[in-house]
Amino acid sequence: MINHPNVNKILYGGDYNPEQWTPDIWEEDMKLLRKAGIDVVTINVFNWAMLQPDEITYDFAKLDNTVKMVTDNGMKICMGTSTAAHPAWMARKYPEILRVEFNGMKRKFGGRHNSCPNSLVYQKYATRLAKKLAQHYKDQENIVAWHVNNEYGGACYCENCEKAFRTWLQKKYQTLDALNRAWNTSFWGHTFYDWEDIVSPNLLSEHFEERRSMFQGISLDYARFNSDSMLENFKAEYQAIKHYMPEVPITTNLMGFYKPLNYKKWAKYMDFVSWDNYPGNEESYSETAMKHDLMRGLKDGLPFALMEQTPSVSNWLPDNSLKRPGVLRLWSYQAIAHGSDTVMYFQMRRSPGACEKFHGAVIDHVGTGNTRVFRECAELGEELIKLGDSTIGAKTPSKAAIVFDWDNWWAIEYSAGPNTNLRYVEEVLRYYQGFHKRNISVDIIGLEDDFSSYDLLVAPVLYMVKPGVDKRLEAYANNGGTLIITFLSGLTDENDYITVGGYPGKLRNLAGIWVEEFDSLPLTKSNTFCYQNKKYPAKMICDIIHNKGAKSLTFYEEDFYQGMPVITKNQFGSGKCYYVGTSSSDEFYQHFLKDICDECNISPIMEAPANVEVTQRCKNGKTILFILNHSNEDKKVIIPKKGNDLLADKGYMENEEVIIKSKGVILLAYEDIE
Ligand code: GLA
Ligand code: ZN
Repeated sequence: MINHPNVNKILYGGDYNPEQWTPDIWEEDMKLLRKAGIDVVTINVFNWAMLQPDEITYDFAKLDNTVKMVTDNGMKICMGTSTAAHPAWMARKYPEILRVEFNGMKRKFGGRHNSCPNSLVYQKYATRLAKKLAQHYKDQENIVAWHVNNEYGGACYCENCEKAFRTWLQKKYQTLDALNRAWNTSFWGHTFYDWEDIVSPNLLSEHFEERRSMFQGISLDYARFNSDSMLENFKAEYQAIKHYMPEVPITTNLMGFYKPLNYKKWAKYMDFVSWDNYPGNEESYSETAMKHDLMRGLKDGLPFALMEQTPSVSNWLPDNSLKRPGVLRLWSYQAIAHGSDTVMYFQMRRSPGACEKFHGAVIDHVGTGNTRVFRECAELGEELIKLGDSTIGAKTPSKAAIVFDWDNWWAIEYSAGPNTNLRYVEEVLRYYQGFHKRNISVDIIGLEDDFSSYDLLVAPVLYMVKPGVDKRLEAYANNGGTLIITFLSGLTDENDYITVGGYPGKLRNLAGIWVEEFDSLPLTKSNTFCYQNKKYPAKMICDIIHNKGAKSLTFYEEDFYQGMPVITKNQFGSGKCYYVGTSSSDEFYQHFLKDICDECNISPIMEAPANVEVTQRCKNGKTILFILNHSNEDKKVIIPKKGNDLLADKGYMENEEVIIKSKGVILLAYEDIE
């Protein structure tokens, strides 16, 4: 949540790069942006070369002009630090700032997001730039947020990083013996005799390919180390800014389910979470919803910021389709519906050259407001003004939660076997959709979050059980919670070291089962099972289960493990644990989760036709229902409670039938007190 006294409505705006243009058009920009209801611009995201033309010179004159211009035009500023692309002089003078890729290739100058996070030179100059900017603009009252760097990401495998990795490992393991044990280096005689023996795990050492490692222990630690290294870069800039502007919240823009960085850990150090939403052409609205919910869950369910989305089109997909009329509005409200307090774009004016020249913008190359996209942006701008502060800071109540964990993600997908088709996020999505398609609100939380406020907790493919997690899950069930865990759970500790003595390892008691083997199926094959008289496929992994106290809900129908349980239920204290031993179809998850939700008294926010999404946000005794029609047809909905439509300025009666147009949106506000 953007905690700033000047923020009392949904911030509307986004990236603005006037330095790519001659000053003669800036006045027109300002006129058009004001006309579109834009009230915030993210500036200074990629200006390092302009701000520091050589090692000793800092020149903020041009940025001062931009700041003055947008301030004179009544806009707020989200201030970038420009450290996501280093200047050419720095690369020439200090090649150590250039990354080494996964395949061992040393980069030259070019691209962006390309600095070695462990280069002392990069660290020194990036932090210094952030400091100088904060010092220079500390009295600029319309700076409502800082946007550090940009979409941190990737990884570096240079010698600096290798050295820093050894130090990171020494701190973690203290002794080489402990490290050798944790990584099981007696396998293939990889025992390390000296810290210097340890090299970074990439194509030159332990990897078959980027996703598959021969030694999961070292690869996992490198993933953690790389994420931590970039987090240190962020923290250094954060502290430099805080020193001068303690009141202004600081963020960096995240990217949804972005594997290389453990965002759950990052979020602890960010004042608010922000992210960039660029759905692929085929992405379902549930997938996008899940990303929003992940972002909301990073920081205890607090509202987040939609930092970027394209007003119309991206440039980096193989095929870049236009957002159809109405879709920009619908998706902007979807972000708000899931907890965003901003609607922001990349970018304000379309670039004239280089790789983003065909990326959508509020103002197109034609340079006027006379375009479909501009009109849609302006109409939305007007609506957001009308909404005022009604949604700002509102929370999203959920009785169900799904656990998502980055270490677990890395571990599952680094593993050689049992099935390279297994994708953690896809399995999480299957469960998420089981809730979301029925408009049941669900939080996505981390393993370290408090489980106790939820009636239902799902931990899909909890392959890695980190210390204490088993006990916390047991306590959750013991105290009355309903827990669902799935196939391939409990197999390893935090170093991908198998928990011996029977699967699912430390979750055995909780699940009341023993998994003797797991069968891994190619994509073309499946087993089947019958759940409540309906046949469903068993895909990808089939756990072969023996009950040790649990009851079977259904059995495999084919192959040598025919008749063995697929799904089990174990009473545990005053709660229970379900174990779903395979991956199945969307229809199965709909059916199964409906039953479990019924059992837990969790009901949809509102009954709605297919492809109509409903969420709610609550604040000060008021609820706002977001009813979003994602389908290509108009749909009839029945209004659940008497209330006001905040966008259409009219009231509805309870049980009133209302037609919601294709891509249409209703924001229904009502008082919670009956
Ligand atoms: C990312 C970046 C922006 C821009 C957009 C284009 O989100 O943060 O700088 O490159 O992609 O889609
Ligand atoms: Zn490096």
